[in-house]
Amino acid sequence: MRRSHIAVFVSIALSTALPALAQSAADGEKVFRKCASCHQVGDGAKNRIGPVLTDVFGSTAGSFEGYKYGKSMLAAGEDGLIWTEENLFNYLFSPKDFLRAFLDDPKAKAKMSFRLKDEQDRRDVVAYLSSFTVAMATPTNGFCVTNQSELTHVFAVDAGDAGRKVQELTPGQSLCTAESSTPQNGFVSVFETIEKDEGCSRLITAGNDEGMIRYSDFDRCEWTSNSS
Ligand code: HEC
Repeated sequence: MRRSHIAVFVSIALSTALPALAQSAADGEKVFRKCASCHQVGDGAKNRIGPVLTDVFGSTAGSFEGYKYGKSMLAAGEDGLIWTEENLFNYLFSPKDFLRAFLDDPKAKAKMSFRLKDEQDRRDVVAYLSSFTVAMATPTNGFCVTNQSELTHVFAVDAGDAGRKVQELTPGQSLCTAESSTPQNGFVSVFETIEKDEGCSRLITAGNDEGMIRYSDFDRCEWTSNSS
């Protein structure tokens, strides 16, 4: 794996909630031209002035292999910063202010000098980048859950001895259990937002994947296994 994807809740205290406006990956492709002087994305992308941005969502900040990140970015990754759509939306407005707030360190430095102030441009470029999410293969003796709904939600997979993972998934993203030497049955859960503890869950057996089609409170979500 080229990026380390780990399961930790994102620190959301410092971020502005992503405003619910339309997002366009097609417009984001144009916005990305501004990023392209430093970043590549997609098949065959290489680190340049900035790191490769393929599969960035759900990855730990500062984790793309072979790229020499700034100290503050590495520290943020160690402190559990995961790139979600919302975090990137806020980072792009001001990488320096974002890292200072996240690390609670007024001296933190950003190696990325570029700022993207326009809100719609930031939404669109985030949508464009999320189209470069690499699907995970189902782990041996484990299972995955995919967010097949149109909104971002928080997901958890619990797999007995293989442990629990929690992650915010944007539409189309998956979360899988760890590989295991023995079959792990367990359950998958989804929460509407990070603040809510009410959600939906499904029992699941090793080797079977689950998809969440539509979120609804009080355990009335639509899953691929219960939709006819
Ligand atoms: C002038 C060059 C430059 C431009 C333009 C630029 N970046 Fe960056 N970007 C960087 C550098 C350098 C880093 C490494 C930051 C660090 O280590 O602190 C970075 C880091 C990032 C990261 C963190 C990646 C990781 O693996 O943790 C993301 C995400 C990112 N940039 C997105 C963008 C997007 C989206 C745009 C366009 C809207 C953009 N950048 C424009 C130079 C640039």
